This record gives sequence, structure tokens and C-alpha cells, in this order.
Amino acid sequence: KKIDLNIGRLEKDGYPHFMLKEIFEQPECINDCMRGRVNKETHEVQLSAISEHKERLLGARRFIIVACGTSWHAGLIGKQLIETFCRIPVEVEYASEFRYRNPVIDNGDVVIALSQSGETADTLAAIELAKEKGAFVYGICNVVGSSIPRNTDTGSYIHVGPEIGVASTKAFTGQVTVLTLFALALSKEKQLINDTTYRCIIDELEQIPEKIKEVLKQNQNIAELSRIFTYAHNFIYLGRGYSYPVALEGALKLKEISYIHAEGYPAAEMKHGPIALIDTEMPVVVIATQNAMYEKIISNIQEIKARKGHIIALINPNDTIISKLADECIEIPETLECLEPLITTIPLQLLAYHIAVCKGKDVDQPRNLAKSVTVE
Ligand code: G6P
Repeated sequence: KKIDLNIGRLEKDGYPHFMLKEIFEQPECINDCMRGRVNKETHEVQLSAISEHKERLLGARRFIIVACGTSWHAGLIGKQLIETFCRIPVEVEYASEFRYRNPVIDNGDVVIALSQSGETADTLAAIELAKEKGAFVYGICNVVGSSIPRNTDTGSYIHVGPEIGVASTKAFTGQVTVLTLFALALSKEKQLINDTTYRCIIDELEQIPEKIKEVLKQNQNIAELSRIFTYAHNFIYLGRGYSYPVALEGALKLKEISYIHAEGYPAAEMKHGPIALIDTEMPVVVIATQNAMYEKIISNIQEIKARKGHIIALINPNDTIISKLADECIEIPETLECLEPLITTIPLQLLAYHIAVCKGKDVDQPRNLAKSVTVE
């Protein structure tokens, strides 16, 4: 009997593409990222880099996150986490801009270099500049032993395993997980967080992998929904607060692999320009979970509907308002607002993936892009 050995599929664990495999690995990756750092008995977070460099980190007057691409989006989420829980100002910079603009930086600053590959040339150059000016540099990378971890003062690996798909998926959620642990651990050291809130966030963080599995069960629904958009020329992604960087990342994923033009915006900025683009031909993805910004998001959706835009909303299961306003809904489990990016990112990855597949694109190796950019 002839055995049909499809080597390509074997190394992808039976998935048609690395990207889909990596999207589905995320529950396990987040567990791997938390392993040894979140104590399941005491419900405490420990990051060795924070324990080892406590004084330097507690004394930071400011954090500057430098990154490129998807990592830069994770940095924007990191800013909100660190400012919320640690009350230290955080700037997020494109590494390529930071390195060329003689930034104001000194030994009171801590630079966090975020990079999946640990090899991005612009991020490496930004680190060199920060070190020359006396800043302390903390790396958050995936590839063990890569150049960034070797050139930083300390850091934390995200431990999500090799990412093969050029469009980053599990590395992004891994970076967000480490940034969450970082903000929580530092906040605890600074005695800025009360025990109840701290425990509550950690308990919920431990639930995130299971909640991601819930979202992944919708893969088939999202695949079907994606077919409607095969011929779309443009997309807008909207979110507020923690969801704003997720909107940017959702739009980037779509651009990278389907070559559809997509823009992410903070939802309230629509009225300052992008709303002029809305018509029946414009799909608008709105992250509309029930958090503090819920009422505001409803009015943003109404503004788009009034101009006949096509709304695809990410909603919580008990939503009775947006489910009636939106043309399409994707239900996702509720979580704490500060942890929402770990959940809301997943359906947007799947949406981009399936639209690209419908268009017959090479999702694992999109044209003109490289997994790690080691030149300027
Ligand atoms: C390349 C990749 C992107 C990635 C960016 C930064 O452009 O195609 O997916 O986000 O580099 O990479 P890094 O390894 O520094 O996170």
C-alpha cells in the first residue's frame, strides 16, 4: 500500500500553513511564557530580570520602548500596561526614527527593546545609541542567543518557540504576555497595586489560554465570513484604549498577507478625517467589547452605520446592542480590560489569514517581506 507522506504538512502538524499552526499554538505559547514566572500556588509573578535589577528598574524615571512592525504594536500595549500599573511615563518609538533623531535620553531612562527575532537592524542600532547615552537596556525577544539579548543589560525571553510565518502572530501575544507580567511585577515592587487587584489580574491571566481556545473554535465561522471580503479593496480597523493597538495590528496583518489596503485608527479619530472614506464598499472592523469605552464605541458604530459602512464587530456573548447594529459579529469571551488584547487579537489574525487564503496568496511568505530585517 502506498503511503502518502506529505512532508510539508507533517512539519506544519497537519495545518495547511505555518501561520495557522502558530495562531492555534497561542494557548500553549502563553502557558509556556508564564511557566516559572506565574506561581500557580501563591498567584504571584516573578521575572528574574526584575528581581536581579530591582533598584535600576524601580529608579527609572521613564521607559522608552523601541521596536519595529508588529513588535511596535505590542509596545503600544506595553505603554498602557506600564503607565496604568506602575505610574511611570512610557514612550513608544519606532527604532528607525529613534536612532536618527538625537533623542533626549540619559541614565535615568530604561529602554525596552522589543523584537521577536532579536536581529532587527534598526532596533539594534537604537540599543547602541541608548547605551552610549547611559540608559539601561531591557530586551524582550523570542530567539534565544540572538543579537539583541546579547547586547542588552538584561531582559526576558517570550518563549513561544520558533515562529516561521513571516506575519507575526504568537510572538505578538507572547510579547504582550511578558509586558503584562513586567507591569504587574514592577507595580508590586513599587507597592502601587493592592493585593486584591493583583491576584484578580493574575487569576484572569491564567484563564487566558482557555479563553483563546474558545475563540479558536470560531475558526470555521471566521473562514466563512472571510469569503465575503475576498474582493474588498480597503479595510478600516477601529478600537479604543487597549484595543487601539490591536486595531493597528489587525490592519497590519491584513496588509501583510492579503495585500488589501487597511488602516487602523483609534475609533474617536474617525471624525477627524477617515470618516470621509466610509461608504457601502468599506468594511470596518470594530473591537467593541464591553469595557469602560463601550458606550463610546456604540456611538462610533452608529456614525459608521449612518454612512452605510459594513461593520464587523468583535463583541462579548451577552451583547444585545451592537449585535443588532453590526452587519457581522464575532463573539469573544469577556476578560479584564487590561488583558483584552490577548483575546481580541486572535480573531483578527484568523480574519486576515482566511481572507488571504481566499485570495490565493502565499500567507507564510508574503511578497516583499522578510521574517527578520537585518539591514536598514
Ligand atoms: C519584519 C517582520 C515583521 C516584524 C518586524 C520586526 O518586518 O516582517 O513581522 O514585526 O520585522 O521584527 P522583530 O523581529 O524585531 O520583532
